[in-house]
Amino acid sequence: MDFFELIRDRRSVRSYRGTKLDPSKIALIMEAVRAAPSAGNLQSYRVAVVEEPKLKNGLVQAAGGQQFLGSAPALLVFFADLERSAARYGDRGRALFAIQDATVAAAYAQLAVAALGLAACWVGAFSDDDVARVLAAPPGFRPVAMLSIGNAAEAPRRPARRRIEALFKHGRLKP
Ligand SMILES: Cc1cc2nc3c(=O)[nH]c(=O)nc-3n(C[C@H](O)[C@H](O)[C@H](O)COP(=O)(O)O)c2cc1C
Repeated sequence: MDFFELIRDRRSVRSYRGTKLDPSKIALIMEAVRAAPSAGNLQSYRVAVVEEPKLKNGLVQAAGGQQFLGSAPALLVFFADLERSAARYGDRGRALFAIQDATVAAAYAQLAVAALGLAACWVGAFSDDDVARVLAAPPGFRPVAMLSIGNAAEAPRRPARRRIEALFKHGRLKP
């Protein structure tokens, strides 16, 4: 599929069919994530691949009861590796670059999922502490985003976007 059509037609899907993902597809998603840009090429993130029902249920709770997460065959949880970036970039690495690295990684994964004909939903509404506890994250690893991944069992309509003029300005934002 054309890249721009892929971006336009990708939707957040919150209902899935089937219970297992083809491991070769997960491997392709991992390769796409690895190709993402990162500050200083440090790749200051780590991704938990979660397929075990008990862990998924823990993440449902950590995400305020968003039940669809439990029905997805796999969840990818993107952590910023704060100290890895801070070791080179100090506070800016800890507060910004590591978060951006993990966010870009998640965005690449989301598009790779779409390119593979699978569906995903980005989830950001969760308790950092609870996600870190469920996945036994070491200190300095902050959860930034989750992606539920599976075969779509719904076809959501395209939601409206803000106008281009509201999002882009030539030159300064304010005269
Ligand atoms: C930072 C971020 C946080 C989000 N958090 C959630 C979430 O917690 N639960 C959820 O169902 N969707 C979540 N979404 C998905 C958005 O609701 C969705 O992207 C938006 O409504 C646009 O729909 P679309 O992805 O189909 O274009 C999140 C998306 C982003 C980028």
